Amino acid sequence: MVAIKHFLQFNDLSTDELNHIFARATWIKGQFKAYKQYWPLQDRTLVMIFEKASTRTRLSFEAGVQQLGGSAIYLNTRDSQLGRGEPVEDAAQVISRMSDIVMIRTFEQEIIERFAANSRVPVINGLTNEYHPCQILADIFTFIEHRGPIKGKTVAWIGDSNNVCNTWLQAAEMLDFNVHVSTPPGYEVEPERANLYGNDHFETFADPMNAAQGADLVTTDVWTSMGFEAENEERKRDFADWQVDAEMMRAANKDALFMHCLPAHRGEEVAADVIDGTQSVVWDEAENRLHVQKALMEYLLLG
Ligand code: CP
Ligand code: NVA
Repeated sequence: MVAIKHFLQFNDLSTDELNHIFARATWIKGQFKAYKQYWPLQDRTLVMIFEKASTRTRLSFEAGVQQLGGSAIYLNTRDSQLGRGEPVEDAAQVISRMSDIVMIRTFEQEIIERFAANSRVPVINGLTNEYHPCQILADIFTFIEHRGPIKGKTVAWIGDSNNVCNTWLQAAEMLDFNVHVSTPPGYEVEPERANLYGNDHFETFADPMNAAQGADLVTTDVWTSMGFEAENEERKRDFADWQVDAEMMRAANKDALFMHCLPAHRGEEVAADVIDGTQSVVWDEAENRLHVQKALMEYLLLG
């Protein structure tokens, strides 16, 4: 039996596989834009399990699988047995007997690992506390569309060393680019949590302005991720100097792009004139979730 391929962390796919997905995403996006039908996943069912809120992830997976000829089923913790303590291993056994592919958004990475270990079908990480690999697929695809290959480029990550940041760091190792990270004291990257091979591909900076210098892409995320709401007020104080504003964008390379996975808080992690400004590609970035995830599902199911 061929081993099932999951996408639980960015480095679950090899560099060649990642590049294949970017190339397929370009083709699939072209078909979609030309209103051409492409139904390789006819009769396939995607189950989407959400233990946290979502707009983009749900929409892009549900629309994406339908556009490939398949169908999607949405489950959440509130109105399924998942919220009533059914073991994740049992849920995985049952759900994977009735579907062809599963996407999960949950809390600890360990939960999705346990699900995948008991699943008969591919499992995709739609965000955990530790990682958000589909987001970074879309972000890098967006970078490539605007600026060409990301190899050798520099990404500045300003703010929290969260799931999105960890995934950027993994991606830097896989695709050979650099990340400048600036976090407030006490919120530093934990290389072990980010599951990195080494520290060749990232550099940390105390001052976010220094991290922005030389960057081809400046990116950030909310100061308080889902699941950490109790820390919100403290974080607002701690992160006050880690806002991406026009001055910070000027410190980056002239043609630097700005990205944000969204949802954004204007006036907190990003100034309105940056996210709504000419260097921002956040709407392309959001749309590209659809195209890269279609390529990802196609790859995991059809090779
Ligand atoms: N960026 C992202 O994953 O958005 P949602 O939380 O809306 O899915
Ligand atoms: N870091 C954010 C990303 C949301 C898409 C969170 O986990 O809430």
